[in-house]
Amino acid sequence: MSCTEAKTIEMTEIFHYPVLYREVLDLLDIKHKKIIVDCTLGLGSHALKFFETMPKNSFLVGIDKDKEALNEADKKLKLFEDRYTLIQGDFSNIDTILRNLQIAAADAIFFDLGVSMYQLRNSERGFSFAKEGPLDMRMDKDSFLNAYDLVNNLSETELENIFRKFGEERYSKNIARKIVEKRKQTPITTTTELAGLVTKAVPLSSLKHYIHPATRIFQALRIAVNCELEALKNGLRKAIGLLNKNGRIGVISFHSLEDRIVKETFKEYSKRGVLNIINKKPVIAGDSELNENMASRSAKLRVAEKI
Ligand SMILES: C[S@@+](CC[C@H](N)C(=O)[O-])C[C@H]1O[C@@H](n2cnc3c(N)ncnc32)[C@H](O)[C@@H]1O
Repeated sequence: MSCTEAKTIEMTEIFHYPVLYREVLDLLDIKHKKIIVDCTLGLGSHALKFFETMPKNSFLVGIDKDKEALNEADKKLKLFEDRYTLIQGDFSNIDTILRNLQIAAADAIFFDLGVSMYQLRNSERGFSFAKEGPLDMRMDKDSFLNAYDLVNNLSETELENIFRKFGEERYSKNIARKIVEKRKQTPITTTTELAGLVTKAVPLSSLKHYIHPATRIFQALRIAVNCELEALKNGLRKAIGLLNKNGRIGVISFHSLEDRIVKETFKEYSKRGVLNIINKKPVIAGDSELNENMASRSAKLRVAEKI
């Protein structure tokens, strides 16, 4: 790694801030909202920006599947502790979560999809192949199924389907075959081992691309382990139902599968006269954010308002 590269990584870490946060604050009109639900609290970086902006008499509900992330966020938000509650849970259960808190409706509901930097950088969680870690990928560490189970137990066709459907990977068949061949000898246990197999299963020419071929395979497995697309479909519909009149919903997605669901759902509710779409085209990061925060390079923000 050259000195310039090393410096870029350091700077990225120092200047890391929540993706598209200015646009989120503005389009969700946070400064006028009283009950705000952050469905993907993560490390609480967006939530902290919300607190700096929302009215003094407002309240935030922070939801995340990941207990460790909630603990970290709790430390970050301590200053505002009488104005929030944090709940470990799946946002697809947002209706039950709010009902248990005796909150009938919200003024702003926010989703920042995918995994957090905390999850990605902690090799023990198994989300990244940058460092060796166990094949885990569970956002909720108490949940039943992990990536090891899928990689070592699904049939070749089932694996191929997951890679194709959730990773849009053109070499899904070769990769699934390679995995099944290898696990006949010994189970595949680590992230780096899986990434190595993927590299061997794709043609050399595809390795020249900017994105490592294992990226799509890891995305696919993560989506399958955490039932991400089902959760998004259910969570969005329930969230729309829970918005007050003039309440706003905002979603940041990071790949086309997620964005398609958000776009189609907003369109459907707009046709039914329930939502007014605030930005017809998704908001993406500008040059200055991209320079400071590489995490925002594939982010797309869509916002809609309850009629
Ligand atoms: C991109 S991070 C959010 C980062 C956060 N906005 C911040 O500022 O730190 C996404 C978070 O959503 C959580 N998550 C993903 N799917 C979820 C679901 N269905 N229910 C609850 N939390 C979920 C993940 O565990 C992760 O912590």
